[in-house]
This record gives sequence, C-alpha cells and structure tokens, in this order.
Amino acid sequence: MLGETPARVSLVLGIESSCDDMAAAVVHDGHEILSSCVRGQAHVHAPYGGVVPELASRDHVTVVSEVVESALRDARVEVSDLDGIAVTAGPGLVGSLLVGLSFAKALAYAAKRPVVGVHHLMGHLIAAEVATPGLTPPYMGLVVSGGHTALYQVGDSGAPELLGETRDDAAGEAFDKVAKMLGLPFPGGPAISRLAAEGDATAIDLPRPMSKRAGLDFSYSGLKTAVAVELERRGGIERLSPGGRADFAASFEAAVVDSLVGRTVRALRKFPHERLVVVGGVAANRRLRDVMKQAGAREGFEAIFPPMDLCTDNAVMIAAAGTRLLSRGVRDDWTLNAFSRVPIGDSPWRVLDSTSAESAP
Ligand code: KG4
Ligand code: ZN
Repeated sequence: MLGETPARVSLVLGIESSCDDMAAAVVHDGHEILSSCVRGQAHVHAPYGGVVPELASRDHVTVVSEVVESALRDARVEVSDLDGIAVTAGPGLVGSLLVGLSFAKALAYAAKRPVVGVHHLMGHLIAAEVATPGLTPPYMGLVVSGGHTALYQVGDSGAPELLGETRDDAAGEAFDKVAKMLGLPFPGGPAISRLAAEGDATAIDLPRPMSKRAGLDFSYSGLKTAVAVELERRGGIERLSPGGRADFAASFEAAVVDSLVGRTVRALRKFPHERLVVVGGVAANRRLRDVMKQAGAREGFEAIFPPMDLCTDNAVMIAAAGTRLLSRGVRDDWTLNAFSRVPIGDSPWRVLDSTSAESAP
C-alpha cells in the first residue's frame, strides 16, 4: 500500500468476487448507495452441495464486465467520474478473487484512477455502519457466513481486533454440509432453517461446540460429525420420517445458534460493548436473531442485524471500505495481489488503524 496526501473521495466503484457471488456497486461519500448489483451462482454449485472453486472463477470471468457495467449504469456514472476503484483482495478463493482484482486493476489502469484492495471481513463490518445510521465504532462484530466465523472488537479508531475465529469449518459451511446429509438443497442454511421450524430442537442431544473450552474460538466440524454419527445410529436418512428429519434440522440449528451466542456473550463479558453487529449469510437465521436479541436484553447489549442484502456478500461494503482507505490517501500499486488468508496485523487490516505507518499521509 502506498500512502499519499488524503483527498476528498466521493464516488467509488466497489468490486467483490471472493467466493460465489460477483458483485459491483457505486457508493457516494462512503454511505449513499447509488447502485448495487449481485450475480449469484447457486445454480452452478447446487448439484455439488457446496461451492466448487474452479467453477466459481470460470463463471465469474463470464459475468464480471456485465455486472460492473450494470452498477455504473444504475448509478448513472461513467468510469471517468469515479474517484477510485475498491476491490476485495482477500481472504477468499484465490481464483475467484483474481477475476475481480484483475478487472478492477485493468479498469483503474485504463481510466487512470487509483485502486485499493479491501479486506473482505473489514467490508462486512463496515456494511453494518452503512446500514445503521449513527453506528460508529467502538462495537463488537460477529462475522458468520459460509466462509467465515469470527469475532472482532472494533476500536474507537475503526481498527478491528480479532478475538476469535473458527478452528475448522465456518458455521454456514456446517449448515451446508449437514443439509447435504439430510438430503436438502444447496445452500443449506435457508433449507435447514425452514425445516427446523417444523421440528423439535430438543429431540436430538447434540454437543454445543467449544462451550467448555477457554478462549473465544469456534469449531463446527465436531458437531457435523456428531450429526453424522447420530444419523447412522438411527439407520441413516432413509429410515427417518419427515418429522425425524425436521427434528435433526431443529436440533442442529439450535446447537449452532447456542454456540454462536455463547461465545459472543463470553466475548462481551470480557470486552464490554453496548452494541454487537452480526453480519454474513448466517445472520439471516431467524433463531440466531431471536436468541441473540434475547441475550442482548439479558446482558445489556444491543444486537444489530443489518438488512440481508448488506449482510451477505455485496460490493457496497467494499466501495464503502475503499472510500475510507482512499480518503486517507491509501492506494495500491499495480502489484496488488489476491490472498486466501490474512493473519491479523497484515497490511489490509492495518490500513484501518490510524497509527499504522502505511496509512500515514
Ligand atoms: O455471506 P454469504 O452469502 O456468503 C459467504 O459465505 O461469504 O453466506 C452464505 C452462507 C451459506 O453457508 C448459507 O447456508 C448460510 O450463509 N445461510 C444461512 C441462512 N441463510 C444463508 N444459514 C443459516 N440460516 C439461514 N437462514
Ligand atoms: Zn462474505
């Protein structure tokens, strides 16, 4: 990242392609959404019950120009009107990231506009700020999606500090895998959630992952195995009645929600905040919303769930995060690359921190 004199940045195009959605958006002054286009790929991955990385990048390359054009057209702006282009640089599937990244760099190069790489999870957290007037740091953030389960404490400066993350599967990934075991379609979260509404959440005794472990990490692969073992013990999915399948869905959903809420409450007791934001696809889960809000009422924090189009992957969050970086004079050069994982402290996070040398004007 290069640091330059901060400039007024008002119109920013965001491009996001870290997983199975290709998205582009134009944001004005970091919060006013002028356009937001998202092209999903559920039809591509449904036959496999999960995202197939190579198919994701191949599909992205066929739609990226159309999605970006739609975003510019809907916002009624030309590339030459833009103050900069922000693009997700990671974490995510590298093949998918490279499609958005190469397109953003080419566009920025041709239009002589600055480009800035954005951390995907930083984007998710900032989406909550865009969606919630008056929400500014500090707050606690839970990012819970198909690729991530992580708790962040966002400090006064806006710099997020990672408090805990999953040691194996993400919560959404567990929903998708258990849905496959139960013969439900991809993506599994909504399907499990619908079926769970007809089941008894206490019918099957499943573990609450990590509940007895110290620290703030999550884990979902043991729970997934527990579901598989229990299914096997009952003679497999073929032997289950429709009601029995609903009981599995409800019991699994309750175990995931209890673990997410339990770890988050533990984090908030250790690091008190008045507000918690929950973002990512799993934030759509009705039970998670209800149980987290009840916990908030009991423990004294407000649980904020942004509207779903800003919870799931989108490019508004990347444009908004990019606006902040560009306004502080942060730009990338043409060597900007994709990364699948970023340990805390690496540059895409540190640029949010006003004490970071890289973001200093
Ligand atoms: O944020 P997202 O759209 O994409 C990324 O993974 O980044 O999240 C998708 C994940 C999928 O795993 C999906 O099964 C899960 O969110 N999901 C849900 C629900 N809706 C979507 N999980 C539980 N309950 C839901 N209602
Ligand atoms: Zn995401």
